[in-house]
Amino acid sequence: MALKLAMGTKLVAATHNPGKVPEIAALLDGRFEIVTAGQLGLPEPEETESTFVGNALLKARHAADLSGLPALADDSGLSVTALDGAPGIFSARWAGPTKDFAMAMKKVEERLEETASDDRSAWFTSALAVAWPNGPAVVVEGRVDGTLVFPGRGTRGFGYDPIFVPEGHALTFGEMEPAAKDAMSHRARAFAKLKAALFD
Ligand code: IMP
Repeated sequence: MALKLAMGTKLVAATHNPGKVPEIAALLDGRFEIVTAGQLGLPEPEETESTFVGNALLKARHAADLSGLPALADDSGLSVTALDGAPGIFSARWAGPTKDFAMAMKKVEERLEETASDDRSAWFTSALAVAWPNGPAVVVEGRVDGTLVFPGRGTRGFGYDPIFVPEGHALTFGEMEPAAKDAMSHRARAFAKLKAALFD
């Protein structure tokens, strides 16, 4: 039997950030009743895997098995070609406990200068996993390719958005209208794949 998520299913979002709920609900076209792992008092697992897909699966599996409900988790980040894919799964951690992305972007710039490479290509990845309690799981990945620019430009978005210019465009993610970014982002591509896989 194909794995599908029926409309109205109660779905745990494996996040402790309640601010993410409206965004997740909208990305899933408002089809599900979303409750967060934080609201259910579930502990956050350590992200011990070495890939985006591995960490998304680990978080979804953990939340599903503990809650007894299907669970959705994501893992995302920026990968830089000349840095062998760094910061990758460590994208959030490069910003430190105070989530200082100005510092994280500076670190990317400095590491790039150290390589003496003039390759500024990079990509964002978003892995999304849905796991059923003590059951199967589905995982998908979305990617957007682009080029890094220094200094960063724009005050919109978050994280590494100011230094990333998506392929075929002139503006950084930090300068674009949110709707323009949302139409082409790694996250939008991953959600499109997830919907194709799981919606009736
Ligand atoms: P996660 O919450 O462990 O998945 O960490 C994702 C990190 O990757 C975030 O903290 C951001 O720094 C970075 N990241 C992921 N997606 C984006 C994006 O769309 N724009 C900018 N930074 C992003």
